[in-house]
Order: sequence, then structure tokens, then C-alpha cells
Amino acid sequence: MLKGKHIILGVTGGIAAYKSATLVRLLVKAGAEVQVVMTPSAKQFVAPLTFSTLSGKPVISEFFTANTGQWNSHVDLGLWADAIIIAPATASTIGKMANGVADNMLVTTYLSAKAPVFIAPAMDLDMMAHPSTTRNLELLKSYGNHIIEPASGELASHLIGKGRMEEPENIVRVLSDFFVPKDLEGKKVMITAGPTYEKIDPVRFIGNYSTGKMGYALAEEAARRGASVTIVSGPVAVKPQSSDIRIVSVQSAREMLDAAQKEFVDSDIAIMCAAVADYAPDHYADKKIKREKDEIPVIKLVKNPDIAATLGKEKNPHQYLVGFALETDSEQSNARHKLHSKNLDMIVLNSLRDSGAGFGTDTNKVTIFTNDGSSESFDLKSKDRVAADIFDTIIKSQK
Ligand code: PMT
Repeated sequence: MLKGKHIILGVTGGIAAYKSATLVRLLVKAGAEVQVVMTPSAKQFVAPLTFSTLSGKPVISEFFTANTGQWNSHVDLGLWADAIIIAPATASTIGKMANGVADNMLVTTYLSAKAPVFIAPAMDLDMMAHPSTTRNLELLKSYGNHIIEPASGELASHLIGKGRMEEPENIVRVLSDFFVPKDLEGKKVMITAGPTYEKIDPVRFIGNYSTGKMGYALAEEAARRGASVTIVSGPVAVKPQSSDIRIVSVQSAREMLDAAQKEFVDSDIAIMCAAVADYAPDHYADKKIKREKDEIPVIKLVKNPDIAATLGKEKNPHQYLVGFALETDSEQSNARHKLHSKNLDMIVLNSLRDSGAGFGTDTNKVTIFTNDGSSESFDLKSKDRVAADIFDTIIKSQK
């Protein structure tokens, strides 16, 4: 999302300025062009040479370049930018930005710019909590700026509290999320994810290897694109990064069915990514089944409901229902059969024969079939990128 974007990184005089070097490196790695603008006091913390080396551009700090007398146009700079990040933003710069005190190149550029502005405060906990900082940040928010809240932890003063600049990786994530097209704004997306556990007794269950990574990646992507997102989740260790994602936790296929049916009623898009157990024990032993000497217990299984097929029957014409097919053989014909038999609009095939695909990996390799008969195969990619391909295909096929 940051490829080719023009980013002004404003660095102000705080100890967290050392983290801004990593921030430049990550932005450049993501394909952005970065122009660093430093306040005079920032140069006390990190040498401009560090930033000019990492960004490949001379750092701007003064209105004039001393040896040539060349004027650094804050107006041109402001217009060049697709986004401005101030990281770290000290209490002093925050105060100047909030009140239009244009006494340095950075604040002057900020006042001239039309691009979105992201502010990552970093300061001691008492400065952070001071009413003037709070008021200035509120003012900046009311002007439409984005505040990247500082984290809590040990500060330069060795006191512990809120005031640590957000980590560079997270700042880059906030920025690249901002540039994702909001093509799911106003839509509700429901995703099933993870395995189901079918209880045998208080200590045992029937389950599978699903970790929820694929389903949670889909949820993150939908949230980035502006959807309101609910995951009906089996037991997993992953957690969503976006605090806007709602989680409904379930264990068994029956619980997943109940929750999915409830959530589906007002969903626009539903994606069945969970690895649902097809069978459950017909009887739950409420005490641990003991190991008897010569007797081997026999567990009788009953069929679980098919959640995707149930929603396929309940689907209204405006609703878009996506299934996954996890196959080990006859992949394409099995996927096409599931697409039609479950009344889906799309099915995403992943095969355990492809290395790097399926359970537990951070990558996946999929072929997407839509109910108009078309299909598209994708390369092995991170599950995040696969999620983006899936939503791109959904949006294309709804047009
Ligand atoms: O969670 P990860 O570790 O990241 O792994 C991701 C994944 C491999 C679990 C995921 O990519 C995937 O393939 N999910 C579907 C797994 C599966 O159960 O596939 P299936 O071919 O058995 O089922 C077909 C479809 O019917 C699926 O959409 C499934 O959710 C649904 N189904 C199946 C059985 C059932 N009783 N109810 C269902 O809704």
C-alpha cells in the first residue's frame, strides 16, 4: 500500500528519535519515498546523516540550506506529501502544531500540507498526562489529524507509564492500513475460523490442526477495508490486531452453527474458513474415561451439521457466501462439487499437497472458483495477501 507514496517523516527532539531510523528503513522497504524533516533539537539526539543515508535524501531542517542559501519551500514540500508522520512528537511540537506556532521548518510544513497527518507522541508520563498535552492532542484530532497512541512501559526517565512512542512496525501498519481502499465500508462481514472441538470426556476431544491464521487474516483484511467484522471462532491462540473486530468464541460445530446462523442474518458477506469437525462423539462422558486393562473403548460418532450448507439454504439474494475446500486429492472437482452442493457463491481451494499451504502455515496457495464457472489460481503468498486476493475477487464478482 505504501509503494510509491511520498511520506514526510517529521522527527522532533525526544529520545525516541532513535526509533525513527527504523521507521525510515521500514517505510523505504515498503516502497515509500521518505523525506525526513528534523526540528533543531532532534539533531541533538540523532545525526541527520543517519536519516539521509537511510532515506537516500538530504534531511531538511532549516528554511535555508546554509552553504548554498537555497530556500527549502515548505509549501512545495507540503504539496509533495501523500502523508506526514510526526514520530516522535514531543509535547512542544504537539503544542506548536495545535496552536499554529510556525517557528520551524517542520511546523511550517505541517501547516502548509493538505495530506493526512499521523502523530506518534513520545514523552514522559506526567507530560503525557498533563491537561495541556491532552487538550492539544484533542485539538489536533479535531483538525482531522490521526493520533497513534503511545504505549505504556519503561520511559527514558526509568519511570513506568504511558508515553513510549509506538513501535515503528505498528506505525507502518497504521499508515498502510490508511491507504487500503475502503471498498467494504458499510458492509457486515462474518467469518468462521479455527477448528472445532468435539468433546469426548472432560480431558479429550476430536479436533484438527487449524490455527485460525487464515480466518483471522481475512478478518483483518475486511476490517482494513472498512467492514464491520465478526469472527465466529473455534479455540485458537491467535488474536486480532484490530480492536474493531468482534469475536464470538465457540467450541463445537453445533455451537459454531448457532452463532454463525445468528450472525449471518444481517451479514452481507460470510466466509466459512473454519475447519469444522464432520463428526462428533454421540455421547459425552462426564467423567474421564479410565484406561481399563483389556477393554478398548469404542467411540460411536454422529454426523455434525454442515454450517456452510445450512447458510447456503438460508441465504438471501443480496448475501454473498464463500466456502473453503481443503483437499488432498481430486482437488478441483471436489471444490467445484462443494461450491454447488452447498449453494456457495465462491469457493477457495487449498490443497495439502502444496507445501506452504493449509494448516498452521503463514502462507497459503489457493485457487478461487466462482459460481459463474470461472476460476483463478494464485501463487504461494502470505495469508494476509491471500485474504486481499479473496476480497478483491469477491468485490469484482459482485460488480
Ligand atoms: O486455520 P489455519 O491453520 O490457518 O488453516 C486454514 C485452513 C486450512 C483451515 C483453511 O484454509 C481451510 O481450508 N478451511 C476449510 C477447512 C475445511 O473444513 O474444508 P472442507 O473442505 O472440509 O469443508 C468445505 C467447507 O464447508 C468449508 O468452508 C468448511 O468451513 C465448511 N464446513 C465443513 C464441514 C461442516 N460440518 N461444516 C462446514 O461449514
